[in-house]
Amino acid sequence: MDLGLTGKQAIVCGASKGLGYGCAASLAEAHANVCIVARTQSVLDESVAQLSALGQGEVTGIAADVTTAEGRDKVLSAHPETDLLVNNAGGPPPGDFREWGREEWLAALDANMLAPIELIKATIDGMIARGYGRIVNITSHMVKEPVGLLGLSNGARSGLTGFVAGLARDVAASGVTINNLLPGQFDTGRLRSNHKKFAERMGVESSAVRERALSQIPASRFGEPEEFGATCAFLCSQYGGYITGQNILLDGGQYRGLI
Ligand SMILES: NC(=O)c1ccc[n+]([C@@H]2O[C@H](COP(=O)([O-])OP(=O)(O)OC[C@H]3O[C@@H](n4cnc5c(N)ncnc54)[C@H](OP(=O)(O)O)[C@@H]3O)[C@@H](O)[C@H]2O)c1
Repeated sequence: MDLGLTGKQAIVCGASKGLGYGCAASLAEAHANVCIVARTQSVLDESVAQLSALGQGEVTGIAADVTTAEGRDKVLSAHPETDLLVNNAGGPPPGDFREWGREEWLAALDANMLAPIELIKATIDGMIARGYGRIVNITSHMVKEPVGLLGLSNGARSGLTGFVAGLARDVAASGVTINNLLPGQFDTGRLRSNHKKFAERMGVESSAVRERALSQIPASRFGEPEEFGATCAFLCSQYGGYITGQNILLDGGQYRGLI
């Protein structure tokens, strides 16, 4: 299938590892020009080298923190016209809401709500003018089935979800789509570190948390970043034009709701 992405410019945030890397890899394989963003230069350089081997487009990396205005400016000044935007950053830490003050809440909102909104604001009018744009926000299955320990994530991502629901319809006639991808449990550094933190809180081994998590997934396995990335590339493709304003769950069947 030709996804129609040859020559399209993508910015993929939080993409030197994990789910963001999976999205960047699928877009690179589809011959888009891909700019990946992450904070750690050394990991970024390795990822750019790996991604460059996948397709015919140009792959670049920008070391920047997308939760800061300076970081976002650095990315946007290098790519003032982007066709595809994948919003992603690290998730907030788990914990007890009694331990969270204004500072923790603002950090979560910056990373998982306000940074994506700022990047959308800076890129969407160009997409509308060119008649093609795809925005994909990586959120979480926690938007559909929240647990208390991840309250910072639930709160911030729900805010982004609510904002996007309105905007997606406002721009739908202009060839620009906006969707959220909701990962369930994917085998990434973030998942392993969360299991470790849960285990410390519960006073059990990390492997016990991992086994328990696996037992709740009907597919009996964690997801792979490649399959997440392929879904992202499809949404970005010429065939994704009629899908907008959606929250697409990739969770191996874990969410038990009918719809
Ligand atoms: N994995 C899962 O099962 C799962 C489930 C639900 C939700 N999620 C959410 O999905 C997102 C991605 O998760 P993941 O598992 O792929 O995480 P990951 O493996 O830890 O990868 C995160 C990537 O984002 C980069 N990054 C983090 N903060 C950044 C920032 N402020 N600015 C720019 N780049 C940043 C990291 O590089 P640097 O650290 O070098 O910046 C890294 O490349 C997170 O928000 C996570 O909470 C994941």
